[in-house]
Amino acid sequence: MSEEPEIRPGQYAQKKGEVVLREHVYDGIQEYDQTLPNWWLFIFFGALLFFFGYWIAYYQFGWTKTDAHRIDQAMAVIAEAKSKALEEMLAKLNDEALVNEWAADPAIVANGETTYMANCVACHGQDLAAKFDIGGGQSVPLPGRSLTDGQWEYGSKPMDIFRIINEGTPAGMPGHNGAKMEAWGQKIPPIQVAELTAFLISRNFAEFNKL
Ligand code: HEC
Repeated sequence: MSEEPEIRPGQYAQKKGEVVLREHVYDGIQEYDQTLPNWWLFIFFGALLFFFGYWIAYYQFGWTKTDAHRIDQAMAVIAEAKSKALEEMLAKLNDEALVNEWAADPAIVANGETTYMANCVACHGQDLAAKFDIGGGQSVPLPGRSLTDGQWEYGSKPMDIFRIINEGTPAGMPGHNGAKMEAWGQKIPPIQVAELTAFLISRNFAEFNKL
């Protein structure tokens, strides 16, 4: 007696174009016994393959980048360009050059004054004395320190002044009446910090021209 190859009911039914139900019934619900359609299987296994490829590319090799990565990279490029610009400027600057070249050049001082009037008057005042004139010979103090009193909290050398403008109140320092100076190097390029320093020196020239 030749043995018939075993045919699963689902395959058989598919060949015959019939519908086969499995024997069990749960809560009155019955189950087809059929192979899944190819389009369904294609999507299912395709999704598994896609996941596997994506998992390798994304998590194992890092081939694709997220927006956060792209932003971090762009920021790193900017930070590098900034620190390079600062390095180049610091290579050119020293106490003597700031006094004898920068502060002695009217065009540079004028640029520094423009930047000062746009960014610094609010706290250091129009006349650099950190006071605001309210008329009638009276004035109120502004948050910044006077920049004409010959007193420099963080060093009186021109490069010290460059540094305090560039880096702001050093970490851990209490500031002035609780107010701190922000790091302007984060906002304006080093050349403008140098021009500001030249402007401040020019306004205190008697003090600095001993250098
Ligand atoms: C929001 C207020 C504010 C602004 C705007 C501001 N400063 Fe200041 N500045 C301060 C304060 C407060 C201090 C004192 C900080 C300290 O003692 O730590 C200070 C300190 C300084 C000092 C040191 C003074 C000293 O006697 O040692 C210099 C120089 C200075 N600022 C320059 C500038 C320049 C240049 C600008 C414009 C780019 C500027 N500041 C803008 C608040 C300000």
